[in-house]
Amino acid sequence: MGGVKGLMLLTVTVAITLIITLSEAQPEANFKCSATSTATCRSLIDFKTQNATTLRHIQTLFNVKHLPDILGANNLPSNTTGTYTVGPNQAIKVPFPCRCQNGTGLSNHVPVYKIKRGDTLFNIATTVFGGLLKYPQIVTANNIADPNNITTGDNLWIPLPCSCDEVGGTSVVHYGHLVEAGTTVEGIAATYGTTQQILLSLNGISDPKSLQAGQVLDVPLKACSSSVKNDSLDYPLLVANATYTYTANECVKCKCDSSNNFLLQCEPSLLKPTNWSSCPSMQCSPNILIGNTTSSTDSCNRTTCDYTGYTSHNISTSLLTHDTCAVPPSGSSGGSSGGPSSGASRNTLQGLVWNNLLIVIHLVLFFVYLL
Ligand SMILES: *[C@@H]1O[C@H](CO)[C@@H](O)[C@H](O)[C@H]1NC(C)=O
Ligand SMILES: *[C@@H]1O[C@H](CO)[C@@H](O)[C@H](O)[C@H]1NC(C)=O
Ligand SMILES: *[C@@H]1O[C@H](CO)[C@@H](O)[C@H](O)[C@H]1NC(C)=O
Ligand SMILES: *[C@@H]1O[C@H](CO)[C@@H](O)[C@H](O)[C@H]1NC(C)=O
Ligand SMILES: *[C@@H]1O[C@H](CO)[C@@H](O)[C@H](O)[C@H]1NC(C)=O
Ligand SMILES: *[C@@H]1O[C@H](CO)[C@@H](O)[C@H](O)[C@H]1NC(C)=O
Ligand SMILES: *[C@@H]1O[C@H](CO)[C@@H](O)[C@H](O)[C@H]1NC(C)=O
Ligand SMILES: *[C@@H]1O[C@H](CO)[C@@H](O)[C@H](O)[C@H]1NC(C)=O
Ligand SMILES: *[C@@H]1O[C@H](CO)[C@@H](O)[C@H](O)[C@H]1NC(C)=O
Ligand SMILES: *[C@@H]1O[C@H](CO)[C@@H](O)[C@H](O)[C@H]1NC(C)=O
Repeated sequence: MGGVKGLMLLTVTVAITLIITLSEAQPEANFKCSATSTATCRSLIDFKTQNATTLRHIQTLFNVKHLPDILGANNLPSNTTGTYTVGPNQAIKVPFPCRCQNGTGLSNHVPVYKIKRGDTLFNIATTVFGGLLKYPQIVTANNIADPNNITTGDNLWIPLPCSCDEVGGTSVVHYGHLVEAGTTVEGIAATYGTTQQILLSLNGISDPKSLQAGQVLDVPLKACSSSVKNDSLDYPLLVANATYTYTANECVKCKCDSSNNFLLQCEPSLLKPTNWSSCPSMQCSPNILIGNTTSSTDSCNRTTCDYTGYTSHNISTSLLTHDTCAVPPSGSSGGSSGGPSSGASRNTLQGLVWNNLLIVIHLVLFFVYLL
């Protein structure tokens, strides 16, 4: 009798362990990236923690060289400082360089994390980096022989998901969006100016209802068209809608804004340059600087002194005329299909738990029957 009870207890324990294991069910994020293997580009990823933190901490954790790059990615005022407090569960977009390899995009050997005493790969993935990746991805990326034996002080490459691919024939910035409980694929698509259909196919999701809170979704953000030439060191300069960034050793600030017909708008940044003792000339002619408009022939067509790229020595400019009014053919919300989609909640998760509870109950009944 005691043996049977022991077996029951064991069965229940095993079943409960199974439930707990199945509960961490968000899929591992792998973004398709089929651009050539030498291609690198800028990507964005959400980061949030349970505890309040600062922008400086996030900058250090992700090895972002310049704080203004984080400010621009989040469209925060450019005078925001590193002590800016980020609230618990407030998502901050972190910019990082992406590289395509074998059809998958990964952060280009950043961030590098130094292992602290007491760290496990599991807690580095889930807690330190807020669940942006799964610990086996750290194991693979770093060729770790024994995941249970890591050495304090060693440096780990944290491979974040990203992509450099165009979407629908247009330039985009790929943004790893952390799915919030209660949101839907359709809602996320509407928020970020894309369609449900594009999100589903980009992420290989067949059923929108399978979306889970905490999952990292590849969201393509429309990038502004720029006048940067292909021999410039920052080509292609991709700046996502509703963000700004710095380029040319931080001498130039460029913003992307839907209200300007998605034309990139650049101007002198007034920041201290990072690789020059002072910023080189940034003018089209005397008194006409990057960003200055020289004439507007009508309400829409404007001639502006455009930023067209930089070399290790200088910054190039050109007077160009653009139509700042034309609105691209609308068609942004056509992708709704298939009934009311349920929000990403613990729905799926609850389903799993209930299914497994049923299994437990059946097992218990079976053993009671044996008695
Ligand atoms: C959050 O703060 C609490 C209390 O200060 C601490 O115990 C916990 O380890 C912190 N969590 C993280 C993820 O830093
Ligand atoms: C940042 O600049 C804005 C004006 O653009 C000003 O109102 C604000 O006080 C400034 N904030 C800081 C922290 O300097
Ligand atoms: C990429 O794929 C090639 C062949 O398909 C393989 O030889 C190589 O090891 C792969 N590289 C990585 C980093 O997985
Ligand atoms: C852990 O790895 C180190 C070398 O990196 C090795 O010397 C040590 O024996 C290993 N410990 C265990 C318990 O495997
Ligand atoms: C661009 O960003 C604005 C402001 O966030 C947003 O209202 C608009 O839907 C976005 N458009 C596209 C096409 O991404
Ligand atoms: C760069 O652009 C020029 C035209 O501006 C074009 O002729 C050339 O083929 C392009 N080069 C590459 C490598 O795409
Ligand atoms: C910095 O400038 C020098 C020449 O002034 C150049 O050789 C070097 O590549 C530049 N470094 C970066 C990171 O742009
Ligand atoms: C040209 O641009 C500079 C810097 O952005 C600005 O301070 C200046 O007012 C502009 N001049 C004209 C005539 O618009
Ligand atoms: C802007 O200029 C283009 C030619 O460069 C012209 O076809 C178009 O009609 C102009 N737009 C307006 C609103 O006048
Ligand atoms: C910029 O520097 C390049 C060499 O790197 C030179 O060929 C070119 O003429 C320079 N352009 C200007 C406008 O000074």
